Amino acid sequence: MQVISTIAELRARLNNERAVAFVPTMGNLHEGHLNLVRLARDHGSCVVVSIFVNPLQFGPTEDFDRYPRTLEADCAKLQGLADVVFAPAVDEMYPTQQTVFVEPPPVANELCGASRPGHFRGMATVVLKLLNIVQPQVALFGKKDYQQLHIIRQLVAQLNLPARIVGGETVRAADGLALSSRNQYLSADQRSEAVFLYRTLQEMRQAILQGERDFERLQKRAVEALAARGWLLDYVAVRNQSDLQPASPAQGEPAQRELVILAAARLGNTRLLDNVEVCLVD
Ligand code: PAJ
Repeated sequence: MQVISTIAELRARLNNERAVAFVPTMGNLHEGHLNLVRLARDHGSCVVVSIFVNPLQFGPTEDFDRYPRTLEADCAKLQGLADVVFAPAVDEMYPTQQTVFVEPPPVANELCGASRPGHFRGMATVVLKLLNIVQPQVALFGKKDYQQLHIIRQLVAQLNLPARIVGGETVRAADGLALSSRNQYLSADQRSEAVFLYRTLQEMRQAILQGERDFERLQKRAVEALAARGWLLDYVAVRNQSDLQPASPAQGEPAQRELVILAAARLGNTRLLDNVEVCLVD
């Protein structure tokens, strides 16, 4: 496995590769990331992982400075799984001030975008840069960041990028908490409380599967239940998988509906994100 920090060296290394599968990350790797890297092997003979904490996607009061940077440990975890690690410095990715940005679709202002203005613009911009630098045949992203995956699919489709986007399932801890580099900010008490977000989403899913179609009421109940336990909720929302628009409480419901319940909430200073898919078939 090679660790490369410049774009020129990376391009030279990948010049003759015909099947590159690419997993972009911000490092501090856990099983969620590693699972995507293993999946990448099914999609390419050369697996590239990028590790770059992208300043453009963090707000001024967010955790860019304290985001964990653990390059050495990350490379140890990637041994035997990846062929190339691309770990550029900020100056390599942004040698001049970035004044050209990707304008993401309107849905980027909703859900996570409502409480993180500019986040998806910065994310989409760096993902486009990385796709142009690596030029993979396939790029893999986790469903854990469902809205991010949706926006990247739109980016690739609407800007005619040649990469194929593959989504990987969310990897969870034994109690169900979705793995995240931010989980380590949680105190022991917060860590045991954290799984309640997933439990709430699962209860909502169960209710929908049992016929509940008043999504507003379902959302309100979840907000109240979480708030009562001390959570500060950004949103809980039932949306269509395909366009992330609000799911209509169906009258004359089609035989098949693919929904996703998404939530973001804060425990103390830590923002947790999760979602579950719900597939309804008659
Ligand atoms: P990061 O948070 O490091 O995540 C990198 C990839 O791992 C993303 O596609 C994310 O969805 C996936 N991932 C994280 N936790 C996961 C889990 N528990 N199960 C499955 N997949 C998981 O997302 C980013 O970095 C950045 O926004 C990036 C796309 C790299 C652009 O800077």
